[in-house]
Amino acid sequence: MQTQVGIVGAGPAGLLLSHLLHLRGIESIVIDSRSRAEIESTIRAGVLEQGTVDLLTDAGLGSRLAREAIFHRGIYLRFGGCTHHVDMEALTGGKRVTIYPQHEVLKDLIAARLEAGGEIRFGVTSTSVHGIEERPSIRFRHEDRDHGIECDFIAGCDGSHGVCRSAIPSNLISRHERVYPFGWFGVLVEAPPSSDELVYASHPRGFALLSTRSPTLQRLYLQCNPYDRIEDWPDDRVWEELHARTVADDWTLMEGPITQKLVVGMRSYVGEPMQHGRLFLAGDAAHVVPPTGAKGLNLAVSDVRVLSQALDRFYRAGTREGLEAYSATCLPRVWKAQRFSWWMTTLLHRGEGDTSFDERRRLAELEYVVSSRHALASLAENYVGLPFDDNPA
Ligand code: DHB
Repeated sequence: MQTQVGIVGAGPAGLLLSHLLHLRGIESIVIDSRSRAEIESTIRAGVLEQGTVDLLTDAGLGSRLAREAIFHRGIYLRFGGCTHHVDMEALTGGKRVTIYPQHEVLKDLIAARLEAGGEIRFGVTSTSVHGIEERPSIRFRHEDRDHGIECDFIAGCDGSHGVCRSAIPSNLISRHERVYPFGWFGVLVEAPPSSDELVYASHPRGFALLSTRSPTLQRLYLQCNPYDRIEDWPDDRVWEELHARTVADDWTLMEGPITQKLVVGMRSYVGEPMQHGRLFLAGDAAHVVPPTGAKGLNLAVSDVRVLSQALDRFYRAGTREGLEAYSATCLPRVWKAQRFSWWMTTLLHRGEGDTSFDERRRLAELEYVVSSRHALASLAENYVGLPFDDNPA
């Protein structure tokens, strides 16, 4: 097989890149080790930045989103038994919080690619990338046959455990990492929402987040030990902790059947640079954020926006400058999202071995955030998403 851009990974980065390239008349082939059903049903975060919504809409992917997404003005911060509204829309001049789960974005992307005749190979095995400095190719097995894709460029969109990240010689990459001593225990609950907007609750027993998926399905998270297993969290314990951590006056937590449970790890990671030769990493292959603030998908979108523009300039005008500057263009925004995700995580979670001093300091920081217009504006600006073009290379 031959194509212009070989894309490893049919997650948000890979599929959106393929779609944006198609809009610019550039061919690509996408491969993924997972089945289509698996990709379309894996539950991930659900909050889209305003810039992500605008980009998806401009790319013709916004019609189901406009009908089915849930739009909020802001979020609630809850601590010390009090609830504080953060009115993002007022603080950012009209930007909203959009709740539209990642797997719904993926369904829209897969449908759009297949409708346009795009090639996606699901369920491939033994993927490897070759010749990334001069003549790139991708090899894999699919339906009991070996295949190869010869291409001009490879986009590594295969996440943090994929083959692309490790295809760059390790002496050429600087790795920056932080592993948090806690995780999230996530549940899906068949119940109406308990709140009209998301609640981020910080409590001496740990963090809790009340998010939503629909008027009848809620997504709730609890800070947990990262080594916890599903069996460690019977339903009774989930409800006891959720009630304790979200306690407030005039408040009822809506209970219902728990239909899914999972443990989410918490890690911050950036590998620099995000490219080598003709291989470009995007999304989780290049960087990982802890889930607080839901920046993962949004960062993948901003990476492939830059990459699709650089590839467009290469194919239309023959200039390599955009491609050479890819990593340098992406990284300032990546690092700002890293800073924000780290900040929200440490602001809201109880740290391992925290003393009463740490607890009081965190409370003071929360009090400061909700009482300072400046701090509120900063939270809102980062939460709804920094502008894409704030760091032209
Ligand atoms: C969700 C996930 C997040 O990480 C977050 O900050 C808000 C919402 C969610 O899954 O809905």
